[in-house]
Amino acid sequence: MNVNEATLLYADEYSRLAETYDRVVVPRFEPIARAVVEVLAPEPGEMVLDVATGTGLLACLLAPRTAPAQLVAIDLADEALRVASYRAGNAGIRNIRFEMMDARNIVYRSALFDAIGSNLGIPNVGYDRTFYEIHRLLKPGGRFVFSEWDAKPTPTRAAYLQALEAHRTETPSKILGELREAVLLNRTAPEAKDLTNPAAVAKRLGNLGFASVEDVVRTFPVRFADAKDLIAFETAWGWDEREVAEMSAEQRAAFENDLAERLGPHSGPRGIDDKWTVHVTVART
Ligand SMILES: C[S@@+](CC[C@H](N)C(=O)[O-])C[C@H]1O[C@@H](n2cnc3c(N)ncnc32)[C@H](O)[C@@H]1O
Repeated sequence: MNVNEATLLYADEYSRLAETYDRVVVPRFEPIARAVVEVLAPEPGEMVLDVATGTGLLACLLAPRTAPAQLVAIDLADEALRVASYRAGNAGIRNIRFEMMDARNIVYRSALFDAIGSNLGIPNVGYDRTFYEIHRLLKPGGRFVFSEWDAKPTPTRAAYLQALEAHRTETPSKILGELREAVLLNRTAPEAKDLTNPAAVAKRLGNLGFASVEDVVRTFPVRFADAKDLIAFETAWGWDEREVAEMSAEQRAAFENDLAERLGPHSGPRGIDDKWTVHVTVART
């Protein structure tokens, strides 16, 4: 599996589950996107680009603040862009241009944007090319602000991954087999690991010509009602949805019990509490 194949497989899965992602994930990601907006500090009339907009969360927070300028929001998942257009339309936002475009090859002219943002959207592999494009697209004095997970998985995420590993099918379908390869590449390639290492990110951005890079660490409390609620969240991603769908009834029951047990120490009367640690990086040209 090469990086291009993995990228296209991911985009197809984000398309397939775009509506679920928008309903289940986006409300939980909104505080993180708001942190990106705060650091990016958009001004009226500024030209802004949202990279890997997904269903348009960050773009729809930014656009009212940069009006009357047209904000550009790109993603590779066409169905996600369709949902994003609805989000903007429902909010009465008219100044976003959604484009299906690869973050590694952004077909806009150089020095066009005052600011570029991305919420948990920088591709795990191939991002040197994305960073290069972003540097090229920014005006002198422009800023690039993006959020990215901390390297250490949170307790609930770790519990989920361990329980999944223990109970997943040994006879995956062709598409699930391919997605497992893509997930492995996206999580274990040395480059992918670097993305969650602020010092490595700062070095890469510096090498590309950014004049300054700053890392702001933010934490966000998160609560799941129970193990099933956590599963609903994790299975808003296509590869995890397929993992759970391809379990036998016995595997599924054992998975849910195992997960509930692992989550025990983090559970209280109001549900399962966790804390997401996210890096908000700001790089200036
Ligand atoms: C975790 S989602 C984040 C979406 C959105 N920013 C949010 O806050 O909900 C990652 C997004 O990156 C997109 N993506 C992945 N690789 C991409 C690429 N090379 N070019 C453009 N979009 C990409 C996916 O289609 C997906 O919509």
